[in-house]
Order: sequence, then C-alpha cells, then structure tokens
Amino acid sequence: MTNIPMLCFPSDFRWGTATAAHQVEGQPADNDWWAWEQMSGKVKDGTNAGRACEWWAGRYVEDFDLAQAMGQNALRMSVDWSRVEPREGEWDAQALARYREMFSALRSRGIEPLVTLFHFVSPSWLVQKGGWENESAIRSFERFATKVVEACGDLVDFWCTINEPNVYAMESYLLGLWPPEKRDMQACFRVIRNQLVAHAFAYRAIHRLQPRARVGLAQHLRVFDPLKPDSSLDRWAAGVQDRLFNEVALAPPVDGVLRFPLGLGTRIPELVDSQDYIGLNYYYRDMVSFDISQPGALFGRRLLTPGSKWSLEGWGEVYPEGLYRFLKRLQRYGKPIYVTESGIPDNNDAMRPEMLLTHLAATHRALSEGVPVKGYYVWSLVDNFEWKEGFGARFGLIDLDLQTGRRTMRRSGTLYGEISKAGAVSADMVARYAPELSSRLFPQS
Ligand code: FCB
Repeated sequence: MTNIPMLCFPSDFRWGTATAAHQVEGQPADNDWWAWEQMSGKVKDGTNAGRACEWWAGRYVEDFDLAQAMGQNALRMSVDWSRVEPREGEWDAQALARYREMFSALRSRGIEPLVTLFHFVSPSWLVQKGGWENESAIRSFERFATKVVEACGDLVDFWCTINEPNVYAMESYLLGLWPPEKRDMQACFRVIRNQLVAHAFAYRAIHRLQPRARVGLAQHLRVFDPLKPDSSLDRWAAGVQDRLFNEVALAPPVDGVLRFPLGLGTRIPELVDSQDYIGLNYYYRDMVSFDISQPGALFGRRLLTPGSKWSLEGWGEVYPEGLYRFLKRLQRYGKPIYVTESGIPDNNDAMRPEMLLTHLAATHRALSEGVPVKGYYVWSLVDNFEWKEGFGARFGLIDLDLQTGRRTMRRSGTLYGEISKAGAVSADMVARYAPELSSRLFPQS
C-alpha cells in the first residue's frame, strides 16, 4: 500500500458553504437593506440585490445541485425575517412554504442545512420601531424564531440565531457605513446587548420546541496584532481592539454577564450557557498602532501588514495562522466549533485555492491538537451581493455571470469539491493547485 501524505479530517466532518438570504435570493421583501440600496451612491458599484442569485425565483435548485456534485454535506443559509413576517404579527405562509422547499431540496441531496435567523437584514416595520436599538426587538425576534422552528423544525435542527452581532452593530451604528448609518457608540453597544439577549431568548424558545436542536451564534473574530511587538503602547492598543471587537460578544453567552460596555455586570439567566456550539467567522488580521489622535477609535489605528502578499486594501490581511489561533482560543469554552464562514474576495480566483488549502491546514492543525472542530463552511457557494461592495467583491467558489445568471465552477470550486469528497487535503492536491505550498504543508514528502 502506498502511503500518500494527507491531512485527514474526521469522517463526520461537515464540508459546506455559507450564504445569506438577502445576498442570494433576489426579489427582496420590505426590509432596510433593500430600501437603502436603492438610494443612489450607497452601494459602491451601483448594483443591488434585486436579482442576486435568483434563489427566490427557483435557481437555488441549480446551486444545490452544484453543491451536491462538489461532495458537500452541509450548507448554511438564512431565512429573511421580512419575508416571513412582512408586517408585525402577520405571517406569510407561502414564504415559509418556500423555505421548506429549500430545506427539503438540501435534505434530498444529502446536505444538512444550518439555518441563520438574522443575517443583517431587518423588516421595515421593525426599523420603524427603532430596530435593534429598541429592546422590544428581543421579544419580536423570539416570536419570529419560534414561528420558523414551528414551521420547519421537522427539516432543520441546526440553527444559528444571529450572525456577527459585532460586525452588524459596528458597521451600522458606529462607523455609519450600513443602514441606518449611525455613528453612535452607545447605540452600537446597545444593539449588541439586545442581540445577545435576543439570542438567549431564541435559544430557550428553540429548545422548548426541539430539545435536541443545536443552536449557536456566528461570531466574527479578527486578529489584532501590535504593529511593533516591542512597543507597549501598540500592544495596549491592539488589546483594546481585541476586547471591544472580539471579546464583547464571546463571553456573555457563556456566563450570562453583560459587562462594560454592554452593561454594568447584570447577569441574564437566559444567557447563561446559551450555545450548543460556537460558530466562528474568520477572515482577516489587522496590525494596530497606538495613535493619540484617534480617541474615537480608542487610540488604535488599524493598518495592513506591511509587505504581506495577502494584504487586501479595504479588507485586511488574509492570515491563515489567525484561524488556528482563534480555534485554540475558543477551545477553552468546551463546545463543538464550526467555522461558519471563511473566504476571500478574489474576483479572478488567483488566491482562493491557496487560501482554502492554508486555512484547512490551519484547521487540521487545531484538530490534531484536540480542538473539537466539526465543520468548515466556505463563504460562499456562488458570487453574491456583498453588501456595500455590491457585486464588485466576488467570494464565490462558483462564478456568477450577472447578465445571464450563468454559473461557472472556479478552479477553487473544483479543488474544494476534491477536498470534500476525499475528506482530506492531500499532497497531490497541493502539488496540482498550489505547488509553492508543498514544502510548507507536507514538509516530509
Ligand atoms: C461576513 C458576512 C457575510 C459576508 C462575508 C464576506 O462578515 O457575514 O454576509 O458579507 O463577511
């Protein structure tokens, strides 16, 4: 028997891709993003989510077929609240039936759905009531989650309540880049707090209906390293960024305590131990230098890593080691971990094969050191509407022709298919897709 060098993953590992309703569905309902995108100049390249990947019109079938052909056994998608509850307290049975069709279509292809209940988009009626700044959003979200689980619980038992509370609150309420374009630090932390409490209430509600459900959050973590490691001021500034961006939403679902800046130490009983798994969305690293002129940014200036070939202007540095570091850091919570998003904006697929191989190698390294990583979901299956960037930033394993809607598998998609089917990254794959990595990933061969 020949001994082919491989990084083997557990046989029950979830090989998936991640998507979100507003980014793929098209024909949006009455929600805040759709209203905002139509104002001129908001989305960088002038596109909008009007058509997107046409999932609502039925083209999810084509994409699920492709995911199945690639050997995927998992897919993360979301339910758009504004479709299911278009007006407060009114439920759209047809929309729920359509989601049931999608979940069934996944199941019949041997693909397990992981369903997110809030992925950045709010119904307009919620926004009119003050959106997530208003505490009433907590009970509204709990009621919506209950409705979805009652309607679809026979097809889905794997839920992600809320996607990236930190990114959502900071982009929308602190940096003013996404709707409702606020620049208000208090509002930002109020939104995170309300989302965490909403998560906890939804967690309890889902478990009442489905005692065996697996429910968690998707946390976006970003590496902040000091630009000058020997500068104590840079180290301090990087630590502040880490605490305010990364730690802020991590601790409350564990011990239930809302510490500063989310609160003054109140313990919310429903929040205590309110995750069955931890979802990690990981993309980038920033270098941080102390900057006295930036009190609003807590004296930290975020910079690209000088000289790194993967420093992407406007995004950050693609840094695989960071995935390993976060997986190790999350190990202390003693919960299963899913990499619920990992990807790269790479319009011509020049870097994505290498990105996939290095990030999967980082995941494998953590696994081999005992971190309970259960799955990896590439962001994304097919190019989709990337929020403020529109269609200008392509994240898909599959290329989407915006004019015709035609899908074309990228080289990275073919590679991910090979990996998913083998349940492993082999030296041979590395030699074919990114030979320059061979000696790094397989030093002995
Ligand atoms: C994540 C979002 C996802 C997508 C990727 C690129 O932060 O959850 O919707 O925009 O970034």
